[in-house]
Amino acid sequence: MNKFFLDLGKQPLANNYLNYFKKKQTKYNLKLFFNTKSKMVSISKRIPSKIMFNNKYPYRSSMSLTMKKSFNKLSNEIKKKFNPKIILEIGSNDGALISNFPKNKVIGVEPCKNLAKITKKEGFKTFNDYWNLKLSKKIKSIYNQIDLIYSANTLTHISNLDEVFKSISYLLSKNGILIIEDPSLLECLKKNSYDQFYNEHIYLFSAISVKKLLEKFKLEIFDIKNLSTHGGSLRYYIKRKNNKNLKIKKNVQKQIRKEIIHGLDKIKTYRKFSKNIKKSKIDLLKILNKVKKENKKIIGYGATAKVVTVLNYCNIDNRFISYFTDITPEKINSFIPGKNIKILKYKKNILKKYDYVFLGAWNFKKEIFNKEKKFIKEGGKFITHIPKPRII
Ligand code: TYD
Repeated sequence: MNKFFLDLGKQPLANNYLNYFKKKQTKYNLKLFFNTKSKMVSISKRIPSKIMFNNKYPYRSSMSLTMKKSFNKLSNEIKKKFNPKIILEIGSNDGALISNFPKNKVIGVEPCKNLAKITKKEGFKTFNDYWNLKLSKKIKSIYNQIDLIYSANTLTHISNLDEVFKSISYLLSKNGILIIEDPSLLECLKKNSYDQFYNEHIYLFSAISVKKLLEKFKLEIFDIKNLSTHGGSLRYYIKRKNNKNLKIKKNVQKQIRKEIIHGLDKIKTYRKFSKNIKKSKIDLLKILNKVKKENKKIIGYGATAKVVTVLNYCNIDNRFISYFTDITPEKINSFIPGKNIKILKYKKNILKKYDYVFLGAWNFKKEIFNKEKKFIKEGGKFITHIPKPRII
Protein backbone atom coordinates (compact mmCIF):
# COMPACT_ATOMS: atom_id res chain seq x y z
CA MET A 1 0.00 0.00 0.00
CA ASN A 2 1.28 3.44 -0.99
CA LYS A 3 1.43 5.94 1.86
CA PHE A 4 1.87 9.64 1.18
CA PHE A 5 4.50 11.52 3.21
CA LEU A 6 5.71 14.71 1.49
CA ASP A 7 4.36 17.26 -1.00
CA LEU A 8 7.12 19.13 -2.85
CA GLY A 9 4.60 21.30 -4.70
CA LYS A 10 4.32 21.90 -8.41
CA GLN A 11 7.58 21.14 -10.20
CA PRO A 12 8.66 21.51 -13.83
CA LEU A 13 10.76 18.83 -15.52
CA ALA A 14 14.11 19.38 -13.83
CA ASN A 15 16.06 19.04 -17.05
CA ASN A 16 13.82 21.15 -19.25
CA TYR A 17 16.07 24.18 -19.80
CA LEU A 18 14.59 26.93 -21.97
CA ASN A 19 16.53 29.91 -23.32
CA TYR A 20 13.83 32.29 -22.06
CA PHE A 21 11.84 32.48 -18.84
CA LYS A 22 8.46 30.85 -19.39
CA LYS A 23 6.15 31.83 -16.58
CA LYS A 24 3.64 29.15 -17.49
CA GLN A 25 6.11 26.28 -17.93
CA THR A 26 4.27 22.96 -17.44
CA LYS A 27 4.53 21.80 -13.85
CA TYR A 28 3.46 18.57 -12.20
CA ASN A 29 2.55 17.78 -8.60
CA LEU A 30 5.58 16.22 -6.94
CA LYS A 31 4.34 14.03 -4.10
CA LEU A 32 6.34 11.35 -2.34
CA PHE A 33 5.04 7.95 -1.30
CA PHE A 34 6.32 4.96 0.66
CA ASN A 35 5.04 1.52 -0.29
CA THR A 36 4.57 -0.52 2.87
CA LYS A 37 4.80 -3.83 0.97
CA SER A 38 7.68 -3.31 -1.48
CA LYS A 39 9.40 -0.74 0.85
CA MET A 40 9.99 1.39 -2.25
CA VAL A 41 9.97 5.18 -2.07
CA SER A 42 8.74 6.91 -5.20
CA ILE A 43 7.04 9.95 -6.64
CA SER A 44 3.39 9.60 -7.61
CA LYS A 45 3.09 11.26 -11.01
CA ARG A 46 4.79 9.42 -13.87
CA ILE A 47 5.58 11.42 -16.96
CA PRO A 48 6.17 9.47 -20.20
CA SER A 49 9.90 8.80 -20.83
CA LYS A 50 9.58 10.28 -24.32
CA ILE A 51 8.75 13.68 -22.80
CA MET A 52 11.57 13.57 -20.24
CA PHE A 53 14.41 12.00 -22.20
CA ASN A 54 14.50 13.52 -25.63
CA ASN A 55 16.86 14.95 -28.25
CA LYS A 56 18.19 17.68 -26.00
CA TYR A 57 18.80 16.07 -22.62
CA PRO A 58 21.31 18.39 -20.92
CA TYR A 59 22.82 16.15 -18.23
CA ARG A 60 26.41 15.14 -19.02
CA SER A 61 28.21 12.58 -16.81
CA SER A 62 31.63 13.72 -17.98
CA MET A 63 31.24 17.26 -16.64
CA SER A 64 32.74 16.45 -13.26
CA LEU A 65 36.18 15.20 -12.42
CA THR A 66 34.72 13.28 -9.46
CA MET A 67 32.40 11.28 -11.72
CA LYS A 68 35.08 10.65 -14.32
CA LYS A 69 37.42 9.31 -11.63
CA SER A 70 34.66 7.13 -10.16
CA PHE A 71 33.90 5.56 -13.58
CA ASN A 72 37.59 5.06 -14.30
CA LYS A 73 38.08 3.27 -10.96
CA LEU A 74 35.08 1.04 -11.58
CA SER A 75 36.23 0.12 -15.09
CA ASN A 76 39.58 -1.06 -13.67
CA GLU A 77 37.74 -3.10 -11.06
CA ILE A 78 35.47 -4.68 -13.71
CA LYS A 79 38.46 -5.63 -15.87
CA LYS A 80 40.35 -7.11 -12.93
CA LYS A 81 37.55 -8.87 -11.05
CA PHE A 82 35.15 -10.00 -13.75
CA ASN A 83 37.03 -9.69 -17.06
CA PRO A 84 33.79 -9.85 -19.12
CA LYS A 85 33.84 -10.54 -22.85
CA ILE A 86 31.27 -7.86 -23.42
CA ILE A 87 29.76 -5.08 -21.28
CA LEU A 88 26.44 -3.37 -21.79
CA GLU A 89 25.69 -0.02 -20.19
CA ILE A 90 22.08 1.10 -19.79
CA GLY A 91 22.08 4.90 -19.89
CA SER A 92 25.55 5.38 -21.36
CA ASN A 93 25.06 9.16 -21.46
CA ASP A 94 28.12 10.84 -23.03
CA GLY A 95 30.33 7.79 -22.56
CA ALA A 96 31.91 8.58 -19.18
CA LEU A 97 32.10 4.85 -18.36
CA ILE A 98 32.27 3.11 -21.73
CA SER A 99 35.16 5.28 -22.91
CA ASN A 100 37.31 3.38 -20.38
CA PHE A 101 36.93 0.14 -22.38
CA PRO A 102 38.09 -1.00 -25.82
CA LYS A 103 35.44 -0.20 -28.45
CA ASN A 104 34.84 -3.86 -29.35
CA LYS A 105 34.02 -4.75 -25.73
CA VAL A 106 31.26 -2.28 -24.88
CA ILE A 107 27.73 -1.48 -25.96
CA GLY A 108 25.89 1.65 -24.91
CA VAL A 109 22.15 2.13 -24.61
CA GLU A 110 21.08 5.76 -24.55
CA PRO A 111 17.62 7.10 -25.41
CA CYS A 112 18.68 10.76 -25.67
CA LYS A 113 19.73 11.39 -29.25
CA ASN A 114 22.13 14.25 -28.47
CA LEU A 115 24.04 12.02 -26.03
CA ALA A 116 23.98 8.84 -28.14
CA LYS A 117 25.41 10.93 -30.98
CA ILE A 118 28.51 11.69 -28.89
CA THR A 119 29.43 8.04 -28.23
CA LYS A 120 28.45 6.96 -31.75
CA LYS A 121 30.76 9.61 -33.18
CA GLU A 122 33.60 8.30 -31.02
CA GLY A 123 33.05 4.86 -32.52
CA PHE A 124 31.23 3.12 -29.66
CA LYS A 125 28.33 0.82 -30.53
CA THR A 126 25.34 2.73 -29.16
CA PHE A 127 21.66 1.85 -29.33
CA ASN A 128 19.74 5.12 -29.34
CA ASP A 129 16.72 3.63 -27.63
CA TYR A 130 14.80 3.21 -24.38
CA TRP A 131 15.63 0.22 -22.23
CA ASN A 132 12.84 -2.36 -22.55
CA LEU A 133 12.16 -5.97 -23.50
CA LYS A 134 11.99 -5.19 -27.22
CA LEU A 135 15.49 -3.71 -27.19
CA SER A 136 16.80 -6.50 -24.96
CA LYS A 137 15.55 -9.05 -27.51
CA LYS A 138 17.13 -7.10 -30.35
CA ILE A 139 20.50 -6.99 -28.57
CA LYS A 140 20.30 -10.70 -27.77
CA SER A 141 19.69 -11.53 -31.42
CA ILE A 142 22.93 -9.75 -32.32
CA TYR A 143 25.27 -10.42 -29.39
CA ASN A 144 23.69 -13.40 -27.69
CA GLN A 145 24.01 -13.14 -23.91
CA ILE A 146 25.89 -10.42 -22.05
CA ASP A 147 28.37 -11.13 -19.20
CA LEU A 148 28.17 -7.79 -17.50
CA ILE A 149 25.39 -5.23 -17.48
CA TYR A 150 25.99 -1.90 -15.78
CA SER A 151 23.72 1.03 -15.08
CA ALA A 152 24.36 4.16 -13.03
CA ASN A 153 21.71 6.71 -12.12
CA THR A 154 19.37 5.44 -14.79
CA LEU A 155 17.06 2.66 -13.60
CA THR A 156 15.52 4.96 -10.95
CA HIS A 157 14.37 7.15 -13.86
CA ILE A 158 12.30 4.37 -15.47
CA SER A 159 8.74 3.88 -14.27
CA ASN A 160 8.24 0.21 -15.12
CA LEU A 161 10.87 -1.53 -12.97
CA ASP A 162 9.37 -4.96 -13.63
CA GLU A 163 10.08 -4.57 -17.33
CA VAL A 164 13.55 -3.16 -16.57
CA PHE A 165 14.64 -6.24 -14.63
CA LYS A 166 12.81 -8.70 -16.87
CA SER A 167 14.76 -7.27 -19.82
CA ILE A 168 18.03 -7.47 -17.90
CA SER A 169 17.38 -11.04 -16.80
CA TYR A 170 16.55 -11.98 -20.40
CA LEU A 171 19.92 -10.78 -21.67
CA LEU A 172 22.27 -11.59 -18.80
CA SER A 173 24.35 -14.76 -19.20
CA LYS A 174 24.04 -17.65 -16.73
CA ASN A 175 26.93 -16.46 -14.59
CA GLY A 176 26.55 -12.85 -15.64
CA ILE A 177 26.90 -9.85 -13.32
CA LEU A 178 24.62 -6.87 -13.04
CA ILE A 179 26.03 -3.74 -11.39
CA ILE A 180 23.72 -0.86 -10.64
CA GLU A 181 24.36 2.33 -8.70
CA ASP A 182 21.98 5.01 -7.60
CA PRO A 183 21.62 7.57 -4.80
CA SER A 184 21.06 5.93 -1.44
CA LEU A 185 17.76 6.50 0.34
CA LEU A 186 19.52 6.19 3.70
CA GLU A 187 21.97 8.99 2.79
CA CYS A 188 19.07 11.11 1.52
CA LEU A 189 17.27 10.76 4.86
CA LYS A 190 20.46 11.45 6.84
CA LYS A 191 21.28 14.55 4.78
CA ASN A 192 17.70 15.85 4.39
CA SER A 193 18.43 15.92 0.67
CA TYR A 194 14.83 16.07 -0.51
CA ASP A 195 16.22 17.43 -3.79
CA GLN A 196 17.03 13.86 -4.82
CA PHE A 197 13.37 13.83 -5.88
CA TYR A 198 12.34 15.46 -9.14
CA ASN A 199 9.99 14.46 -11.93
CA GLU A 200 12.66 12.50 -13.81
CA HIS A 201 13.87 10.75 -10.65
CA ILE A 202 10.98 8.39 -9.94
CA TYR A 203 12.48 6.07 -7.30
CA LEU A 204 15.05 6.31 -4.54
CA PHE A 205 16.45 2.86 -3.85
CA SER A 206 17.45 1.28 -0.57
CA ALA A 207 19.15 -2.10 -0.19
CA ILE A 208 15.91 -3.30 1.41
CA SER A 209 13.74 -2.36 -1.59
CA VAL A 210 16.25 -3.55 -4.21
CA LYS A 211 16.55 -6.94 -2.48
CA LYS A 212 12.75 -7.34 -2.53
CA LEU A 213 12.47 -6.25 -6.14
CA LEU A 214 15.16 -8.66 -7.35
CA GLU A 215 13.47 -11.67 -5.73
CA LYS A 216 10.81 -11.66 -8.48
CA PHE A 217 13.51 -12.19 -11.10
CA LYS A 218 15.54 -14.78 -9.18
CA LEU A 219 18.37 -12.29 -8.84
CA GLU A 220 20.21 -11.34 -5.64
CA ILE A 221 22.72 -8.80 -4.32
CA PHE A 222 26.09 -10.40 -3.51
CA ASP A 223 28.10 -7.29 -2.73
CA ILE A 224 27.39 -3.67 -1.93
CA LYS A 225 29.55 -0.55 -1.84
CA ASN A 226 28.89 2.86 -0.37
CA LEU A 227 30.00 5.61 -2.74
CA SER A 228 30.30 9.34 -2.15
CA THR A 229 28.98 10.22 -5.63
CA HIS A 230 25.62 11.99 -6.06
CA GLY A 231 25.51 12.85 -2.37
CA GLY A 232 25.94 9.24 -1.24
CA SER A 233 25.13 6.31 -3.50
CA LEU A 234 25.01 2.55 -3.26
CA ARG A 235 26.57 0.27 -5.82
CA TYR A 236 24.82 -3.10 -5.93
CA TYR A 237 26.60 -6.16 -7.36
CA ILE A 238 23.94 -8.62 -8.48
CA LYS A 239 23.96 -12.23 -9.72
CA ARG A 240 21.49 -14.94 -10.52
CA LYS A 241 20.34 -16.83 -7.41
CA ASN A 242 21.41 -20.14 -8.90
CA ASN A 243 24.95 -18.94 -9.59
CA LYS A 244 26.77 -20.50 -6.65
CA ASN A 245 30.25 -19.44 -7.83
CA LEU A 246 29.94 -16.13 -6.03
CA LYS A 247 29.46 -15.88 -2.26
CA ILE A 248 27.20 -13.25 -0.75
CA LYS A 249 29.38 -10.84 1.19
CA LYS A 250 28.61 -9.90 4.78
CA ASN A 251 28.31 -6.22 3.91
CA VAL A 252 24.99 -6.87 2.12
CA GLN A 253 23.28 -7.89 5.35
CA LYS A 254 25.19 -5.14 7.18
CA GLN A 255 23.72 -2.46 4.90
CA ILE A 256 20.21 -3.90 5.29
CA ARG A 257 20.62 -3.96 9.07
CA LYS A 258 21.79 -0.34 9.03
CA GLU A 259 18.73 0.64 7.01
CA ILE A 260 16.39 -1.21 9.38
CA ILE A 261 18.00 0.51 12.40
CA HIS A 262 17.29 3.84 10.69
CA GLY A 263 13.68 2.75 10.16
CA LEU A 264 13.70 2.72 6.35
CA ASP A 265 11.06 0.00 6.43
CA LYS A 266 8.60 2.13 8.44
CA ILE A 267 6.31 4.98 7.37
CA LYS A 268 6.95 6.94 10.59
CA THR A 269 10.57 7.54 9.47
CA TYR A 270 9.33 9.25 6.32
CA ARG A 271 6.83 11.35 8.28
CA LYS A 272 9.74 12.61 10.41
CA PHE A 273 11.76 13.31 7.24
CA SER A 274 8.80 15.32 5.93
CA LYS A 275 8.83 17.48 9.09
CA ASN A 276 12.58 18.08 8.69
CA ILE A 277 12.08 19.18 5.08
CA LYS A 278 9.35 21.68 5.96
CA LYS A 279 11.75 23.16 8.52
CA SER A 280 14.61 23.14 6.01
CA LYS A 281 12.50 25.33 3.69
CA ILE A 282 11.75 27.86 6.47
CA ASP A 283 15.39 28.00 7.58
CA LEU A 284 16.77 28.43 4.06
CA LEU A 285 14.36 31.30 3.36
CA LYS A 286 15.39 32.92 6.67
CA ILE A 287 19.04 32.95 5.54
CA LEU A 288 18.20 34.24 2.07
CA ASN A 289 15.96 37.00 3.46
CA LYS A 290 18.70 38.09 5.86
CA VAL A 291 21.27 38.25 3.05
CA LYS A 292 18.81 40.18 0.87
CA LYS A 293 18.14 42.72 3.64
CA GLU A 294 21.90 43.33 3.84
CA ASN A 295 21.88 44.04 0.09
CA LYS A 296 24.38 41.27 -0.52
CA LYS A 297 24.45 39.42 -3.80
CA ILE A 298 24.13 35.68 -4.34
CA ILE A 299 25.08 33.50 -7.30
CA GLY A 300 24.14 29.82 -7.53
CA TYR A 301 26.82 27.25 -8.38
CA GLY A 302 25.83 24.15 -10.37
CA ALA A 303 22.41 24.19 -12.08
CA THR A 304 21.63 20.65 -11.00
CA ALA A 305 18.34 18.85 -11.44
CA LYS A 306 18.32 18.74 -7.64
CA VAL A 307 18.41 22.51 -7.26
CA VAL A 308 15.30 22.83 -9.45
CA THR A 309 13.37 20.99 -6.74
CA VAL A 310 14.78 23.27 -4.01
CA LEU A 311 14.10 26.54 -5.86
CA ASN A 312 10.57 25.57 -6.91
CA TYR A 313 9.66 24.08 -3.51
CA CYS A 314 10.98 27.09 -1.57
CA ASN A 315 9.86 29.60 -4.21
CA ILE A 316 13.31 31.11 -4.66
CA ASP A 317 13.76 33.28 -7.75
CA ASN A 318 16.01 36.13 -8.90
CA ARG A 319 14.88 38.31 -5.99
CA PHE A 320 17.22 36.13 -3.95
CA ILE A 321 19.69 34.55 -6.38
CA SER A 322 20.82 36.82 -9.23
CA TYR A 323 22.26 34.13 -11.49
CA PHE A 324 23.47 30.54 -11.56
CA THR A 325 26.71 29.44 -13.12
CA ASP A 326 27.42 26.06 -14.70
CA ILE A 327 29.97 24.45 -16.99
CA THR A 328 27.50 22.33 -19.01
CA PRO A 329 27.25 23.73 -22.57
CA GLU A 330 23.60 22.61 -22.86
CA LYS A 331 22.59 24.67 -19.78
CA ILE A 332 24.45 27.92 -20.45
CA ASN A 333 22.30 31.01 -21.20
CA SER A 334 19.09 29.20 -20.38
CA PHE A 335 16.89 29.56 -17.30
CA ILE A 336 16.49 27.38 -14.24
CA PRO A 337 13.32 25.38 -15.02
CA GLY A 338 10.32 27.12 -13.46
CA LYS A 339 12.32 30.12 -12.22
CA ASN A 340 13.51 33.40 -13.72
CA ILE A 341 17.16 32.79 -12.85
CA LYS A 342 19.55 32.79 -15.79
CA ILE A 343 22.47 30.37 -16.05
CA LEU A 344 25.76 32.00 -16.96
CA LYS A 345 28.77 30.29 -18.44
CA TYR A 346 31.33 29.48 -15.77
CA LYS A 347 34.42 31.66 -15.96
CA LYS A 348 37.40 31.72 -13.67
CA ASN A 349 36.60 34.95 -11.80
CA ILE A 350 32.83 34.80 -12.05
CA LEU A 351 32.29 34.59 -8.27
CA LYS A 352 34.24 37.80 -7.59
CA LYS A 353 31.22 40.09 -8.00
CA TYR A 354 29.15 38.16 -5.46
CA ASP A 355 29.14 37.96 -1.66
CA TYR A 356 27.59 34.50 -1.38
CA VAL A 357 27.45 31.37 -3.48
CA PHE A 358 24.46 29.05 -3.18
CA LEU A 359 25.76 25.54 -3.59
CA GLY A 360 23.41 23.90 -6.10
CA ALA A 361 25.88 21.08 -6.75
CA TRP A 362 26.36 20.37 -3.02
CA ASN A 363 27.30 16.79 -3.94
CA PHE A 364 30.50 18.19 -5.52
CA LYS A 365 31.32 20.39 -2.52
CA LYS A 366 34.86 19.04 -2.22
CA GLU A 367 35.66 19.48 -5.92
CA ILE A 368 34.10 22.96 -5.98
CA PHE A 369 35.77 24.20 -2.77
CA ASN A 370 39.05 23.04 -4.18
CA LYS A 371 38.42 24.91 -7.42
CA GLU A 372 37.29 28.10 -5.64
CA LYS A 373 40.08 28.37 -3.06
CA LYS A 374 40.76 31.98 -4.09
CA PHE A 375 37.13 33.10 -3.56
CA ILE A 376 37.10 31.41 -0.14
CA LYS A 377 40.48 32.91 0.83
CA GLU A 378 39.24 36.37 -0.07
CA GLY A 379 36.28 36.00 2.32
CA GLY A 380 33.66 34.60 -0.08
CA LYS A 381 30.97 32.55 1.61
CA PHE A 382 28.81 29.63 0.55
CA ILE A 383 25.18 28.91 1.45
CA THR A 384 24.03 25.31 1.54
CA HIS A 385 20.80 23.56 2.54
CA ILE A 386 22.53 20.20 3.19
CA PRO A 387 22.22 18.69 5.76
CA LYS A 388 20.70 21.86 7.26
CA PRO A 389 20.52 25.38 5.83
CA ARG A 390 23.65 27.31 6.86
CA ILE A 391 26.39 29.65 5.74
CA ILE A 392 29.86 28.16 5.30
P1 TYD B 1 24.75 16.66 -10.72
O1 TYD B 1 24.79 16.95 -9.30
O2 TYD B 1 25.70 15.65 -11.22
O3 TYD B 1 23.39 16.10 -11.16
P2 TYD B 1 21.85 16.32 -11.10
O4 TYD B 1 21.57 17.24 -12.25
O5 TYD B 1 21.43 14.92 -11.36
O6 TYD B 1 21.34 16.84 -9.80
O7 TYD B 1 24.96 18.01 -11.56
C1 TYD B 1 26.08 18.78 -11.35
C2 TYD B 1 25.93 20.08 -12.10
O8 TYD B 1 26.90 21.00 -11.61
C3 TYD B 1 26.18 19.94 -13.59
O9 TYD B 1 25.27 20.78 -14.29
C4 TYD B 1 27.60 20.46 -13.76
C5 TYD B 1 27.71 21.46 -12.66
N1 TYD B 1 29.08 21.68 -12.16
C6 TYD B 1 29.71 22.91 -12.41
O10 TYD B 1 29.12 23.79 -13.03
N2 TYD B 1 30.98 23.08 -11.95
C7 TYD B 1 31.66 22.11 -11.27
O11 TYD B 1 32.82 22.31 -10.88
C8 TYD B 1 31.01 20.86 -11.03
C9 TYD B 1 31.70 19.77 -10.28
C10 TYD B 1 29.72 20.69 -11.49
